[in-house]
Amino acid sequence: MSVLFTPVPIGSVTIPNRFVRSATHDYMADDEGNVTERNVELYRLLAEGEVGLIITGHANVQTSGKASPRQMGVFDDRFVEGLARIPAAVHAFASRVFLQIAHAGRQTKPSLCGCVPVSPSPVYDPVSKVMPRELAAEEIRALVGDFISAAVRGKRAGFDGVQLHAAHGYLISSFLSPHTNRRTDEWAGSVENRARVLLEVLRGAKAACGRDFPVIVKLNSTDFLEGGLTLDDAVRIAGLLETAGIDGIEVSGGMAEAGRGSVWPGLRSRDEEGYFVENAARIKRAVGVPVFGLGGIRTLAVAGRIVEEGRADLISLSRPLIRDPFLVKHFREGLAAGSECISCNKCFNPRGIRCAELTKRR
Ligand SMILES: Cc1cc2nc3c(=O)[nH]c(=O)nc-3n(C[C@H](O)[C@H](O)[C@H](O)COP(=O)(O)O)c2cc1C
Ligand code: SF4
Repeated sequence: MSVLFTPVPIGSVTIPNRFVRSATHDYMADDEGNVTERNVELYRLLAEGEVGLIITGHANVQTSGKASPRQMGVFDDRFVEGLARIPAAVHAFASRVFLQIAHAGRQTKPSLCGCVPVSPSPVYDPVSKVMPRELAAEEIRALVGDFISAAVRGKRAGFDGVQLHAAHGYLISSFLSPHTNRRTDEWAGSVENRARVLLEVLRGAKAACGRDFPVIVKLNSTDFLEGGLTLDDAVRIAGLLETAGIDGIEVSGGMAEAGRGSVWPGLRSRDEEGYFVENAARIKRAVGVPVFGLGGIRTLAVAGRIVEEGRADLISLSRPLIRDPFLVKHFREGLAAGSECISCNKCFNPRGIRCAELTKRR
C-alpha cells in the first residue's frame, strides 16, 4: 500500500491518511460570518471523499481581520454553535478537521473590515491600495489574546485542532517579515522578536486548550520580496515553534505585493508541481514535527515521491479538491492518477467556490 494511505499522528490526533485539504476560503458563510448549510455540505463532501485532514477556510479572530466577503467569523462566542456543525458533519466519517484562525492585517479593505486596516508598521500595500495604521503595543497584546480566545472557541466547537495563519502577508506573517515589520520595540528586529506574536499565540493557545489539543501553523517560507522574510528566517522560526510546542508545520509562501502569491496560476512546467515542497524539505530537516508539503501538487506519483523521499509527511491540496472533493477516494480506488485542475484560478467565486472549468463543460 502507498505510504499516502497510511495514518500519521499530529500531536494527539491520528490522521487516517496523508492528504490534507489546505485551508480554502469558500465564500459560503452569511454576511455576518455565520456558518451556513452550504459550508456544512462542503465539509461533509470532503470527509466523504476521504480527505485525511480538512483545514477550514480562514476564520477571522477580530472584526478588523476580515479579508473576504462571506468569511466565517470566530471573533465572538456567538459563532461557536454554528461552527460546531462542521466537525459534527465531518466526524460522521474518518476525517479530522482543524479550524484555521486568521487576521488579514493590511491585506483587506476598509469596506470589508469596517476600519483602517492594521499592520505592525505603516507600510503601504500596493495591491490592496491600503495605507495601514500601526498597531499600538496594547493592541498587539489584545491581538494575541483574541487569537487565543479563537483557538478556545475552535476547541469548544468540536474541532480536532486549530491552524494559525502565519502566511501570505496576513497579520502574523507581516510581523514575521522585516518588510512590513519596521518597529523598534520587542515585536521587531531579530527573528525571535518578529516571531514573538506567533509564539505567544501558540503558547497561550496550548495553555488555554490543553497540551493535547493540536495547534499547527501555516508558515510563509519566503515573501519573494527584497527585504522580506527569507527561507533561512523561516527555518529558524520553525525551530522556535517546535520548542514552543507546535504540532505540525504547513509550508507555504508568497505575498500579493511581491507579484508572486501563494496560489500560482497555470503551472508552467512539471518542476512547478509542488512549488513550495523544497522549502518544506528544508524545514523538515530542521524539525521533528510533521511537515506539510504544498503548492500545485497534482499527481499521485509526485505526492507519493514527496512523502517516500522524506521531503514532507503530508500532502496539502486546495484547488484539486475544489475541482473534485472525491479526489483522494478516487486516488485510493485507482480511479484517478492525477487532478484535472489546470490551476486557472477561476474558482475564486464570490458566490461560492466552484470549478469554472467543470461548470463550462455542463
Ligand atoms: C479559492 C481559494 C481560497 C483559499 N483560501 C485560503 C485560506 O482561507 N487560507 C489559506 O491559508 N490559504 C488559502 N488558499 C491557498 C491554498 O490553501 C493553497 O495554499 C494554495 O492554493 C496552493 O495549493 P494548490 O495548488 O493545491 O491550490 C486558498 C486558495 C484558493 C484557491
Ligand atoms: S477553476 Fe477549476 S480548474 Fe481552475 S483552478 Fe479552480 S479548480 Fe482548478
